[in-house]
Amino acid sequence: MVKSLNSVVRRLVAPVGLWTATMLAPLYATAEINAGEELLRNRCMGCHVPEQNEPLQLSRISHQRKTPEGWLMSIARMQMVHGAQITSDERRTLVKFLADTQGLTPQESAPYRYILERRLNHIEDKQPQLAEMCARCHSEARVGLQRRDAGEWEHLVNFHLGQWPSIEYSAMGRDRDWLGLALNEVVPFLDKNYGLQKDHWQQWLDSEKASPIGEWRLVGSMPGRGDFHGVMKVIADGEDRYRLNLTGKFADGKSLRGKGQALVYSGYEWRADITLGKEKFQQVLAMNPQGDRFEGRMFLKQQETLGVNLTASRADKPSLLAVSPAFIEAGKSQQISVRGTQLSGDVSLGPGIEVLKVLKRGKNEIRLKVRARKGLETQALDVRVGEQNLAGGLRVYDRIDSLQVSPAYAVARVGDGGGSQEKVKAAFEARAYGAGEDGVNGTADDIYIGTMPANWSLAPFDQQAIEDRDLDFVGKIDRRTGVFTPAAAGPNSKRKYGTNNAGRMSVIASVGQGDNKQEAKAELIVTVQRWNNPPIR
Ligand code: HEC
Ligand code: HEC
Repeated sequence: MVKSLNSVVRRLVAPVGLWTATMLAPLYATAEINAGEELLRNRCMGCHVPEQNEPLQLSRISHQRKTPEGWLMSIARMQMVHGAQITSDERRTLVKFLADTQGLTPQESAPYRYILERRLNHIEDKQPQLAEMCARCHSEARVGLQRRDAGEWEHLVNFHLGQWPSIEYSAMGRDRDWLGLALNEVVPFLDKNYGLQKDHWQQWLDSEKASPIGEWRLVGSMPGRGDFHGVMKVIADGEDRYRLNLTGKFADGKSLRGKGQALVYSGYEWRADITLGKEKFQQVLAMNPQGDRFEGRMFLKQQETLGVNLTASRADKPSLLAVSPAFIEAGKSQQISVRGTQLSGDVSLGPGIEVLKVLKRGKNEIRLKVRARKGLETQALDVRVGEQNLAGGLRVYDRIDSLQVSPAYAVARVGDGGGSQEKVKAAFEARAYGAGEDGVNGTADDIYIGTMPANWSLAPFDQQAIEDRDLDFVGKIDRRTGVFTPAAAGPNSKRKYGTNNAGRMSVIASVGQGDNKQEAKAELIVTVQRWNNPPIR
C-alpha cells in the first residue's frame, strides 16, 4: 500500500542546521524510515537543499509529480549531466519511492498512456503552441505527464535554454522570442493545465488501493499475429511486488507461455518483465481503481513497435471482454469466440445474427457457429451474455467502403550491421470501414468494421525516392503480416554517394479482389538509428 510522504515528513521535522552527518546516524536505524528517504538524503540532498525546515522537502524534487519513467529519466540526467552517484539498485528503490509519494493519479496519466506504452508511431493531437515551442523535440506527452507549480515550470524552461542554447536559434526558435513566449505564455498555460495540484494526489493516496493478486483473463491483438487471449496468474512477492505466470494464444495459432515479475507503482501502474518462450516482453498496464481491469500493452523489449494491446479482467468477476473475430460478412457463416470471465446467461449477438450451433460453452469462452443474414447493412452490434454487454462488440458488413492503413505515418530505423542499435521495425494494420448512413467515406459516421488480413507491398513515396532507388535498399515488408523490417545500418557502396539505407516509402495494403478490391496507403520513413531511447520519447 502506498504510504504518504507527508506523514513521514511531519514526524521528521527538524531545524535544517541540525542535519549534520552525526545527527543523521541514529535516524537511519529507526525502522520506519524507509530506504527511499534514506537515499534522498544520501544521494540527492548534497545538491538539493531542504526547505522550510523540513528535512525531506527538497528544492526542486518536492515540487513536482510524475510517472515512474519520468522520475527515472530525471535521476538518469542527474547522473549523466551532474555526476550524481547512485547505484542501479538504489535508483530503482528511489524511483519506486518517488512514484509512490509524488506520482500521477490514474486520471492524470490517462490521456498520455500511449507514450508509456511505447506506441512510438502514435500521432499526437497537440496543443498548437506546445507543438511549436516544446513538442518539436520530444512528445507533448513528456510535458503532459508532469505536474509542477509555475515556479517549477519556469525552472524547467530556464534549464532547457541553459542545457540546449540552440533552442533559440533552431527552427521554431529563431523566428520568435522563444524565451519570452516560453516564460510569459507557455508557463502560465502549463501552470493552469498541469499545476502541482497536491490535493488531487492526496485524494488518490487516501483512497483504498486494490491488489492485483489473483487470476486474470487477457484479450488483445497484435499486428501481424492477430487476436490474442490468455491467462495471467499473479502471486505476491513482497510489498507491491508480484510474480506471474502467463499463457496465451494468437489467432494465427502461435502460443505464448512463460513467467515474469511485476512491480506496481503509484498504486496502479503495473510494470512487468516477462519471458515468453525465447521472447522478452514488457507489460505497461494501468489497473483501474476498482481493481478488476487492466488496460495497456505488452511489447517486445527489443522491438517496442511490436506488441499486444491488452485488456484484462479478474477471473472471478463477470465481464464480457471481446468477440473474436469481431466481424462477419452479411450472408456468410463462421465460427466466433465470445470471451470474458464468469460468463453465464443467454447470448445475444444482435438482430440478424443467427446461432447455428454452440460448439463450446465455458465460463471464459463461448464458441459458436453463427450466420449473418444476407442483406444486413454494415453496422456495429451490441453483444450480450446474461447481464454483461459489449457495445459494438460484433460488426456485420455487406461490403468494405474504405480502407485505412494504421499508423498512417510511421518511422522505421536501420540497425544492426555491426552497430550497437538493433533495427527498429514498423508494423501496419489494414482497418476496414463502412461509409455509414451518409454513404460518404471519411466522415464522422463511418463504421469501423475491423482489422482485415491484407496483401502488403511497398512503393517509392515520391520522385526523389524513385531517383534514389529507395525501394531496392530500405528493407522488406512481410506480404502477409504487414511488418516492415528495415535494412542494415551503415554506408552502402551500392547507393548513390555510398549513403545509408534510409528512404521514403508508401506502404500499400490491399484487401479483396476484382470489383471488391480496396487499397490504402501509409507513409513510411526509413531513417537512421536513434542513440538515445529514453522510456518517455
Ligand atoms: C551533483 C548535484 C546534484 C545531485 C547529487 C542531484 N541533483 Fe538533481 N539537479 C541538479 C541540478 C544542477 C539541477 C537543475 C538542472 C537540471 O534540471 O538538470 C537538478 C534538477 C533536478 C530536478 C528537476 C528536473 C526538472 O525536470 O526540472 C529533479 C527532479 C532532480 N534534480 C532530482 C534529483 C534526485 C532525485 C537526486 C538524487 C538521486 C538528485 N536530483 C541529485 C543537481 C543535482
Ligand atoms: C531543443 C529541443 C527541446 C525543446 C524545444 C524542448 N525540450 Fe523539453 N527536453 C528536451 C530534452 C533533450 C530533454 C531530456 C532531458 C533528459 O534526458 O533528461 C527534455 C526534457 C523535458 C522534460 C522532462 C524533464 C524532467 O527531468 O522531468 C520536460 C517536462 C520537458 N522537457 C518539457 C518541455 C517544455 C514544457 C518545453 C517547451 C517550453 C520543452 N520541453 C521544449 C529537449 C527539448
